[in-house]
Amino acid sequence: MSDVSLDKSVDKRRTFAIISHPDAGKTTITEQLLLFGGIIRQAGTVKAKKSGNFAKSDWMEIEKKRGISVTSSVMQFDYAGKRINILDTPGHEDFSEDTYRTLMAVDSAVMVIDAAKGIEPQTKKLFKICKMRGIPIFTFMNKLDRDSRDPMELISQLEDVLGIEGYPMNWPIGSGKVLRGLYDRYNKRVELYRPEDKDNPYLPLDDDGNLTTDNEITEDSVYQDAKESMDLITEAGNPFDIDKIKRGDQTPVFFGSALVNFGVQTFLDAYLKFAPAPNVHETQDDEIVKPDDEEFSGFVFKIQANMNPRHRDRIAFVRVCSGKFSRGMDVTLERNQKSLRLSNVTEFMANTRENVQNAVAGDIIGLYDTGNFQIGDTIYTGKKNINFKKLPQFTPELFVKVSAKNVMKQKSFHKGINQLVQEGAVQLYTAYTTGDYILGAVGQLQFEVFQFRMQNEYNSEVVMETMGHKTARWINPDQLDEKMSSSRNILVKDVHDEPLFLFENAFAERWFKDKYPDVELTSKL
Ligand code: G4P
Repeated sequence: MSDVSLDKSVDKRRTFAIISHPDAGKTTITEQLLLFGGIIRQAGTVKAKKSGNFAKSDWMEIEKKRGISVTSSVMQFDYAGKRINILDTPGHEDFSEDTYRTLMAVDSAVMVIDAAKGIEPQTKKLFKICKMRGIPIFTFMNKLDRDSRDPMELISQLEDVLGIEGYPMNWPIGSGKVLRGLYDRYNKRVELYRPEDKDNPYLPLDDDGNLTTDNEITEDSVYQDAKESMDLITEAGNPFDIDKIKRGDQTPVFFGSALVNFGVQTFLDAYLKFAPAPNVHETQDDEIVKPDDEEFSGFVFKIQANMNPRHRDRIAFVRVCSGKFSRGMDVTLERNQKSLRLSNVTEFMANTRENVQNAVAGDIIGLYDTGNFQIGDTIYTGKKNINFKKLPQFTPELFVKVSAKNVMKQKSFHKGINQLVQEGAVQLYTAYTTGDYILGAVGQLQFEVFQFRMQNEYNSEVVMETMGHKTARWINPDQLDEKMSSSRNILVKDVHDEPLFLFENAFAERWFKDKYPDVELTSKL
């Protein structure tokens, strides 16, 4: 049964992640969005937090109290009648499977690209996950205040490198020192970079795309170039296609500069118009859970362990999929059918305390956890069992050999490893010939967290031997011959007993493919 008032609240939610390569400007643009939402009053706040000298803030207080750093993982604010949830996708050294899993909990993604650099490796990886989920992706070409690449080249890169059609919503009029503004075909206006009248930076365009009033900008060759490019694209480019956008086959592209706050609001307003409200979720039994279903349901997409030894607690991040969360409610944990009371719940950067008490589909709640939850767990209310589809497995890229430092402590070593692997902290493989334990991860931090938690939670000191980057490829067990293993690859099995090779590098993989052309090698996401 659906609930009309719930339906209205859900309809206001916009839940997204920003995907980008480090340094493209994710933090800077997040900050601008928080400024629009009235969450922070001054730019530089998030940045200061990142570098650790963030002193007087509400979130820091929460962090201090809890002794755990969670507050920037989810940022919630209201803007233009919508309630926005931005989920952080840690990059740099913090890059981990959690970064990927966060993308399972959003309804759309914003892709920030440095317009001077174009598409970079980490963006490509994160994009792939979004594409697989078929969620809408909105692109912001950043740093227009610096000399940028030819915008035409940036648009075609989207298609050539990522395989997604780009639909420019606006077009830069110059860049760097000659940045004049944006030729905005969507809003039918020119947005001036340095307008004489700061309160009105817009010059309207008529239906043919010409300025309705005289302005000296029309004399400028960078304006003429931008208009020409836009005319050409309007005539010969891909038409705007909302169905393609919804499927993630076309991305609306916006240009601007997060640092000088140019084009960001134009982007946000259009984004909110086209980004989807929370969608339905499928269960293992192929049933559909609707966001406005009365019973509450959600799934755990991330567990953040506390790195502070004085606080052993963890936080399980739950994406709400249906119903309404209220503090103190009883839910069923699907995996073991246990009943749990949700009373110790963390709030994110909400404007008021009430927000988390009334979380609905699209919102994220953080549950203090003493070991009840695993990644992928479903929780729900009501008599009907709900079990959401499993979260996908990702292809790890970094590997270490792991063993217990003290051979007498095998029991706690095995207990810890099993628990942490089940929880999704790292992936575990066993070498065919030697029986060695090998851990796989997408980011180095996962190993560090693993080592720390083994010591702190299971009293097991581990030795890790770096194996570096490897290419993991699964092989059909029927085609496997142990003789295929050589000095350039290691044959291992995963926790489901499925065999795979860890190749030294792409060359080793190609060599294998040449030698065994009929053998099928596959990767996970
Ligand atoms: P990230 O979170 O994606 O890693 O990027 P972040 O926002 O931290 O930005 C990386 C660098 O790029 C920062 O400079 C930031 O100021 C700069 N930047 C972001 N957006 C723009 C933009 O639109 N134009 C220009 N010119 N620069 C931009 P930094 O020197 O590393 O840091 P800071 O010392 O300036 O804070």
